[in-house]
Amino acid sequence: MAALPPDAAVEAAASSEPEEGELVTNRRVILKRYVTGCPTEEDMEVVVGTLRLVVLPGSAAIVVKNLYLSCDPYMRTRMSRHDQPSFVPDFVPGEVLDNWAVSKVMVSGHPDFKPGDLLCLLTGWEEYSLITNPKVYHKINHPEFPLSYYTGVLGVPGITAHAGLFEVAKAKKGEYVFVSAASGAVGQIVGQLAKVAGCYVVGSAGSDHKVNLLMTKFGFDDAFNYKKELDLDAALKRCFPEGIDVYFENVGGAMLEAVLRNMRPYGRIAVCGQVSQYNLQRPDGAPDLFQLVGKRLRMEGFLVGDYGGEYRQRFEEKMAGYLKEGKVVSVEDIAEGIEAAPAALVGLFSGRNIGKQVVAVARE
Ligand SMILES: NC(=O)c1ccc[n+]([C@@H]2O[C@H](COP(=O)([O-])OP(=O)(O)OC[C@H]3O[C@@H](n4cnc5c(N)ncnc54)[C@H](OP(=O)(O)O)[C@@H]3O)[C@@H](O)[C@H]2O)c1
Repeated sequence: MAALPPDAAVEAAASSEPEEGELVTNRRVILKRYVTGCPTEEDMEVVVGTLRLVVLPGSAAIVVKNLYLSCDPYMRTRMSRHDQPSFVPDFVPGEVLDNWAVSKVMVSGHPDFKPGDLLCLLTGWEEYSLITNPKVYHKINHPEFPLSYYTGVLGVPGITAHAGLFEVAKAKKGEYVFVSAASGAVGQIVGQLAKVAGCYVVGSAGSDHKVNLLMTKFGFDDAFNYKKELDLDAALKRCFPEGIDVYFENVGGAMLEAVLRNMRPYGRIAVCGQVSQYNLQRPDGAPDLFQLVGKRLRMEGFLVGDYGGEYRQRFEEKMAGYLKEGKVVSVEDIAEGIEAAPAALVGLFSGRNIGKQVVAVARE
């Protein structure tokens, strides 16, 4: 994902000629220090600055008002310094965090945008952002839904669920599908799409309330609270007496280990993420991968960024249809105000979020 313009660019534009445009207060979430172990709110700080709502004449910059910030586990991986380059750049202490958001264009020097346009784009964790060269953005084609859906069911988590389930794991009607972190942003969509496709679907989640949500709201066939199960292997055997065809992997660790023992021959594992590993300095050792040989399993990682362009557009239309027909529903957990953003991010790692974690910076 693209890095944000550095603070210097923001300040330069804010203080450069011409001195016109409203001067607004701009609260921003910065990384205070690199993180080891579990992130805490103290690793971040909300600082107050100002930004002038203006772009330099002749530039293709835009100034946006950020409405809904997406809060995602992968942001934790960016809070540590990596010696080897990761698939996304590390955050830098003293600089603003960034991620996907839904934002409104306030000022534009760019031919493709005008004030009032709503966009889903990469932007800062701040109230207003100057984006000097907007490259990665998507139009909001279905404003009839809550705008926050573009951080969830109609955005990155939704595309991730669809691509992982159908392009990577190639789930088919009648198959046995298991998804971990099942009530979260990605997991809840995986389960519902698998049901629409005619699969038998089981999910795991970290509280009885979440398990109840899986069964009553999202239509899973079965679910269990992994924190209460003394033996994950036994829990999976109880839910899948004939084994698992498709595992949508969100957590890693002990769950992956148990799943491998319960896969059916020729099963597929879509490795979407491993949230149980993100706070560890040394990831858990590899599980028993010899299971892949005997059962002829396929295990494949993927990144949602590989499913843009036309795939994204087709997905948006398909998902908008499912939402209108009531085949898919979305549960969101909305934290109010930019000050709530650090706690919302930290909460992902104790399972405090119930559904897609969003931060509402401003509601329109
Ligand atoms: N490959 C890609 O392109 C891509 C794109 C988006 C997301 N992802 C990945 O997809 C996964 C789900 O992301 P999301 O946005 O949908 O997050 P989410 O599920 O909405 O939130 C994270 C959830 O993870 C669970 N969790 C936290 N710590 C855990 C632990 N130690 N062990 C087991 N579960 C734990 C918690 O749920 P419980 O209460 O149920 O434990 C928590 O609510 C993550 O691994 C993420 O990195 C990958």
